[in-house]
Amino acid sequence: MGYLKWLGHAAFELRLDDRIIYIDPWISNPKSPIKLEDITKADYVFVTHEHGDHLGESIDIAKKTGATFVSIYEIAMKAQDAGVEKVIGANMGGPIKLDGLTAYIVPAFHSGLPTGVVIKGKETTIYHAGDTAVFGDMALIRELYSPSIALLPIGGHFTMGVYEAAKAIELLKPDVAIPMHYNTFPVITADPSELSDLVKKKGLTTKIVILNPGEKYEF
Ligand code: NI
Ligand code: MN
Repeated sequence: MGYLKWLGHAAFELRLDDRIIYIDPWISNPKSPIKLEDITKADYVFVTHEHGDHLGESIDIAKKTGATFVSIYEIAMKAQDAGVEKVIGANMGGPIKLDGLTAYIVPAFHSGLPTGVVIKGKETTIYHAGDTAVFGDMALIRELYSPSIALLPIGGHFTMGVYEAAKAIELLKPDVAIPMHYNTFPVITADPSELSDLVKKKGLTTKIVILNPGEKYEF
């Protein structure tokens, strides 16, 4: 049984096919339910882009657990220079073969070498959109990888808001969408129930799962 645990902001702990994965682990975010000391085991750490609220404590986590750091090449090289032993510096394009899992770095529209990531295991396929605007090629992500679970920013100002995230869901057609990157600080205040309403109005079947920081969605 796998799960996604929201750690506040864009940070998630993922258990997929018995691997423990952290995505954009800014563990010192104001809503985080855990501290860096609480993390003792990890197999992979993914970082979507180099903004501090996504890079977070990823390098510390990789160093203390021996996890493999996976990101776009330039960020992976910085992690290596900072002392991370196992890094995979990849890029947007085709499959990145991990031990039993496959990852795909996909485009995102934002600043700071932005990407999203698709992580495909036997149990499910997850798309973490990173920080991004909505873009038409989310339909291509759907066509190529059919993610079952989409993690989408809804806070506005720096990323999509709820109106744009509803359009993203229309393009991605995931079974489940989990909103993120909102209510961390006042400028990205959003009401995730508005996303549920908009998705219903569009007649889409995607289930919006609203987590509180520390809560898990099991799959
Ligand atoms: Ni950013
Ligand atoms: Mn951000």
